[in-house]
Amino acid sequence: MNRKLHVYSRGRALFERARKVIPSGIPGHFNPVVQKPHGAYPYYAQSSRGARFRDVDGNEYIDYMCAYGPMILGYGNPVVESAYRAQMKKADTCTLASPVMVELAEFLVDLVPIADWATFAKNGADATNMAVLIARTATGRRKLIAIEGGYHGSSPWMLSIERGGIDPADHQHVIRIPWNDIDALRRTLDQNHGEVAAFISSPYHHPVYQDNELPAAGYWPEAHRLLKKHGVVSICDDVRAGFRIDMGGSNEYFGYRPDLICFCKAIANGYPISAVAGRDSLKDAAGTIFQTGSFWFSAGAMAAALACLQELARIDAPARILEIGRKFTEGLTNIAAGQGLMLKASGMPSMPYLRMEHESGIEFHQALCGECARRGLFMASHHNLFVSAAHTEQDLEQTFAIFDEALAAVRTSC
Ligand SMILES: Cc1ncc(COP(=O)(O)O)c(C=O)c1O
Repeated sequence: MNRKLHVYSRGRALFERARKVIPSGIPGHFNPVVQKPHGAYPYYAQSSRGARFRDVDGNEYIDYMCAYGPMILGYGNPVVESAYRAQMKKADTCTLASPVMVELAEFLVDLVPIADWATFAKNGADATNMAVLIARTATGRRKLIAIEGGYHGSSPWMLSIERGGIDPADHQHVIRIPWNDIDALRRTLDQNHGEVAAFISSPYHHPVYQDNELPAAGYWPEAHRLLKKHGVVSICDDVRAGFRIDMGGSNEYFGYRPDLICFCKAIANGYPISAVAGRDSLKDAAGTIFQTGSFWFSAGAMAAALACLQELARIDAPARILEIGRKFTEGLTNIAAGQGLMLKASGMPSMPYLRMEHESGIEFHQALCGECARRGLFMASHHNLFVSAAHTEQDLEQTFAIFDEALAAVRTSC
């Protein structure tokens, strides 16, 4: 079947209007200039439901970016929506925090094995920033060890030094080491003995433009032995992977116990809230730092988070999403093999990173993802994808049919 290719005339017109009043039209990674090939991706969403959305031209997509992670139960999930609406009838952003903040903290403390307390913010970067401030306050040290290519948000110390406006001084106390490199961690800790406040890392390595890498056997236990020996706080940045691998924090799956965990993306199925959860030993430090924001007490998002977490736990979402992810990656890999090409899926199946093995760059893969978008299958080419609990067998079947057709189209044109 040859599908009609999507056109984006309304989206493009809106983008031209946007460029006059919004710097770059669409900021950040949703910018169509970042999404290559240019013109292959839609510009603005009109509506969303389940695992699909429609753009402003009326084209429909099966969505494997899930808003870059927040959507986990499906857009417009009724359980989350009704909890949100019920709270909004009572109070949202108000002079005082709402009781639901306490209920949410209690729920997280019960859910997450390392958590004796939890505190809330809005974005992932708020949470990772807070975690670092807590670690510095608790240890009285300044330095931070992070992984090369690891992303923790868009605050100056987290961004690559080449980005606009970043001062090298912002990175003065951040030491980057390669992923899975215990010798580098040992050396860095020895060389900076008594100066390192925290080691911040995602539970597995999910950089952009590169295969994603799981921890090597024994990596986390040995890393933790070293961190403990040097009195360094272990921060698990579970902003991206949180609740797609293990409800208790992705560290549980990989067999280690950090001191602090940062959650965000999937915690409230799209409502804006992040959390830092931590051990009792860091509670006083967490109570001492000053971090807040105009909307950090908004109760609607907290009610949404509580309902989302309860629902994720009820349906054992991580197991379900991992299973759907396995079917998804196996299906795509088999289709590629059927057309004589090797598709590599790396990372966890609930957040797979895809790449074509025959190329060293990602040009062919970019073209392929562009052809998929034009046919109603949305996947970014430079970033891991996201699978949700709302993706159905029917979505998978349609996904495979589109992928097969898009791959044949790229092979013909390359
Ligand atoms: C692992 C990780 N940490 C932190 C962040 C920052 O989150 P936010 O964009 O909500 O500030 C992200 C965002 O993609 C992330 O993937």
